[in-house]
Amino acid sequence: MSSPPSQALSDQNALNGNPQTTGKQVVIGMIGLGTVGSGVFKIFRDHSDIFFQKIAVRDSQKNRNITDLDSDLLSQDPFEVVRDPETQVIVELMGGAELARELVVEALNNGKHVVTANKELIAKYGPELFELARKNNVRILFEGAVAGGIPIIMPLKLSLGANKIQEIAGILNGTTNYILTKMTQEGWSFEQALAEAQAKGFAEADPTNDVEGFDVGYKISVLSLIAFKQEVDPLSIHREGITRITAEDIQTARELGYVIKLIGLAKMQADGRLDIRVHPMLIPVSHPLSNIQNEFNAIFVKGDAVGEVMFYGRGAGEMPTASAVAADILAIATGLLKGNEPIPSMIIDPATPAKLLPVGETRNKYYLRLNTNDRPKVIGHLGNACGDAGVSLEAVMQKGINPDGTASIVLLTQEVTEKQMNQALEAIRQQESTQAIGCLLRVL
Ligand SMILES: NC(=O)c1ccc[n+]([C@@H]2O[C@H](COP(=O)([O-])OP(=O)(O)OC[C@H]3O[C@@H](n4cnc5c(N)ncnc54)[C@H](OP(=O)(O)O)[C@@H]3O)[C@@H](O)[C@H]2O)c1
Repeated sequence: MSSPPSQALSDQNALNGNPQTTGKQVVIGMIGLGTVGSGVFKIFRDHSDIFFQKIAVRDSQKNRNITDLDSDLLSQDPFEVVRDPETQVIVELMGGAELARELVVEALNNGKHVVTANKELIAKYGPELFELARKNNVRILFEGAVAGGIPIIMPLKLSLGANKIQEIAGILNGTTNYILTKMTQEGWSFEQALAEAQAKGFAEADPTNDVEGFDVGYKISVLSLIAFKQEVDPLSIHREGITRITAEDIQTARELGYVIKLIGLAKMQADGRLDIRVHPMLIPVSHPLSNIQNEFNAIFVKGDAVGEVMFYGRGAGEMPTASAVAADILAIATGLLKGNEPIPSMIIDPATPAKLLPVGETRNKYYLRLNTNDRPKVIGHLGNACGDAGVSLEAVMQKGINPDGTASIVLLTQEVTEKQMNQALEAIRQQESTQAIGCLLRVL
């Protein structure tokens, strides 16, 4: 971090086609020096190829966990960073969608490459930003935006580029995976596991974004942009969180040979419609996703040529995410330093708006837990309600008698449409012996 900007400026000149200049460093302007930004700064502060020109923060007086940070480097004006004429690459690590979009649009229009880890930004505005990058002949890279340190964007785009991707199923949120793991291993309630996740720094004080599945919605929508070249409004994705999962569901699932995980799912149908959703699912213990524990993430991909592949690792955190962001920076820097176009193969193809499969038409096996009166013929009535809706049962379990005298019953169905399952559920709800519907979950 000691090289004068004039050296780096010579690279800008080289990029602009000035043949006399051969520079040594690429000039970076960063927006955000929080969790991820600090990690990126630590990786590059003494790097021979990278020069930090300015870093925008909200509060330049804040105490930061970075030794010998030169306070002259900090600015409270992020527009100063994207407008700096010497800066070649803008690294956006601020978060949020609207201001980040404004800054990234200005950076791209100013001819600067952009690296970001902002899933919300890419999920909401990706296609517009990719088009702008194309128009300005610069790159926008975002490997850190999905699953932190796990390489998945480049592998989907490049390494699996010869495949027609058929399905992506991801454990894409470390907070919820940590909570579900603790509920499974320790028998804790959701509330207990959430409190522990907050104490360990894995969950925010307001955990809504994670536990209600919004975060996974952004990520699966970004993956669909790359894998299927389809644009999905993240807020239109069918989404259910994990707050209604009980320790009893987890225990029962285990007895049936499953674990419960929050899954971001995207499946391309033969008719070109995209089945995309976020919800908890029962995962068979034989499936590789069932073994992903604690805050780890994994993405299971099916391609027509490769078959099944799975990517596994740390999906968040300072250094794992910085690892992905720093690799994007280096990919661009290498091109700039060699006077080449940085990685032309990472130009993101235009996406078309996805035609979504309505959730009622999706096909799943289902797990249903309910409380009924404890008396003869109840199981027969449940079977009839399912049969009338065309729902065949794979297993029926009576789990015992609850303290209030009701019987706890679990049904596992064969594969049916969601519409059929809802029809069966409505008929069950209407039965006089039904006391409470506990939890309805889909099976992967
Ligand atoms: N944390 C992770 O593990 C992780 C993983 C994958 C992706 N990401 C993504 O990476 C991005 C950054 O996340 P993070 O966890 O590093 O966030 P963070 O710790 O909250 O840091 C945000 C940084 O942005 C600065 N900032 C916020 N608003 C600003 C403004 N208006 N002007 C200038 N600076 C501003 C903050 O300044 P102050 O320091 O002065 O407050 C802070 O340095 C987000 O898009 C996030 O989704 C994070």
